[in-house]
Amino acid sequence: MDNCIILAGGQGKRMKTTKPKVLLEVLGEPMLEWVIKACEDSGIKNICVVKGYEGEQVEAYVSARSGSADIKTVLQSERLGTGHAVMMAKDYLKERSDGNTLILCGDAPFIDKQTIEGSLELHKENGNAVTVVTSVISEPHGYGRIIRTKDGISGIVEEKDCTDEQRKINEINSGCYWFDTKALCEVLGELTPNNAQNEYYLTDCISLLLGKGKKAGAFTSVNENVSLGANDRRGLLALNDIARKAVIDKWLDFGIEFTCLDGVVIGNDVTIGEGTVIENNVKLTGKTTIGSGCRIMSGCMLNNTAVGDNTVLNFVQSNDAVVDDNVKIGPWVQLRPDTHIKSGVKIGDFVEIKNSTVGEGTAVAHLTYVGDSDVGSNVNFGCGVVTVNFDGEKKFRTVIGDNSFIGCNTNLVAPVKIGSSAYTAAGTTVTKDVPDGALAIDRNRQANIEGYAAKKLKARNEKIAKQKKG
Ligand code: UD1
Ligand code: CA
Repeated sequence: MDNCIILAGGQGKRMKTTKPKVLLEVLGEPMLEWVIKACEDSGIKNICVVKGYEGEQVEAYVSARSGSADIKTVLQSERLGTGHAVMMAKDYLKERSDGNTLILCGDAPFIDKQTIEGSLELHKENGNAVTVVTSVISEPHGYGRIIRTKDGISGIVEEKDCTDEQRKINEINSGCYWFDTKALCEVLGELTPNNAQNEYYLTDCISLLLGKGKKAGAFTSVNENVSLGANDRRGLLALNDIARKAVIDKWLDFGIEFTCLDGVVIGNDVTIGEGTVIENNVKLTGKTTIGSGCRIMSGCMLNNTAVGDNTVLNFVQSNDAVVDDNVKIGPWVQLRPDTHIKSGVKIGDFVEIKNSTVGEGTAVAHLTYVGDSDVGSNVNFGCGVVTVNFDGEKKFRTVIGDNSFIGCNTNLVAPVKIGSSAYTAAGTTVTKDVPDGALAIDRNRQANIEGYAAKKLKARNEKIAKQKKG
């Protein structure tokens, strides 16, 4: 069985945060999550995360996440180098020593399935005890350099230990390796901190294995970002830009029309159907899915929202909601969790809908709050309707039957049920159920006082005349 060890002990001092570095986010997801997902994509089920700085936060993150991998953590309480970090997982490795172990850096988020699988294939084919994933880059400063031989590699030299000649090598160690697990366990104990940084270098395992007559090789990844990490906020922003552009590129290749990329952020797990247009300033995150033929206009922020086909959204903020086909919503609408907008619905400006179902063909044109409600089909909401769903302690539901007409400024005091084809008069506060086909009205009859204005005016003029005299 193959395992993976993820090195995640780093602090990231220059980030100026109390979060461990691996929990800083790229495109809305912790870097550690990117690395774990790459393992899961490659079918690796057993992962051990070596935590260090603020290790409880790393622990809390992995235990709360759901995914196919079985993740354990071990603590490295002193930061003594990458080799030392792997030593912390020695017991974990000994229990699972009959295969290969992948080592990854938790702060290098762009490791990918192709690289993991390609390097494992080479590792097995050549019968290597270790295979290093390398990358050829124009600015190798700071990375370990790969020393190639005719039929493999002879080692990795860290920047600080390099000769001037070695410093010119631009094939670098990405920090990702495949080891034969038994062979790794054998040499881990032999590492010493005899180098410029007084650290236990994991990279020294290579010469130790070669010394035992074992084979070491290198796999050059075509992914030029495979080793990229971030040391400060500017670097983290650069990772975000790379990730953001990569997702947009994928959707451009698929044929999605973007009118302008300014402010467009699309998460990795989002899907978009054919013929959909995405305008500027649109943020699609989480497990959002957009159907085909939609127009997602400026100002939309959709998180975990499922949108059907041929729907138009304009300045909509939505969280954990479902919107079906041929719906028109916006501008300035909020859909809160557990809302389901069925097909053909029209929702206009300044409307908020929460934990409610809105039936087919219903119209909610303006300035309305629908909360904890089950609304039927072809209902018409006048302007300013409010479902009064909260009494200060508990929430209650409102039920509205098909084809009803809710007059302007109606208050629906829940729990309450409006029958089908029923009416409420404008300004009514509904506190009792309304039967099918009935009109609910709670207003006093209007009285008009004839000649009222003339009387008022006469009194006013007399007062002014008196003041002038006096
Ligand atoms: C290491 C490699 C270098 C390679 C580079 C790629 C060694 C000796 N050098 O450099 O050849 O080019 O990665 O980025 O391995 N970590 C711990 N505990 C520690 C030290 C590190 O958990 O005691 C973790 C870090 O949080 C990080 C990863 O290991 O996730 C790599 O550590 P980092 O300090 O960035 O690597 P370098 O030693 O600079
Ligand atoms: Ca590094």
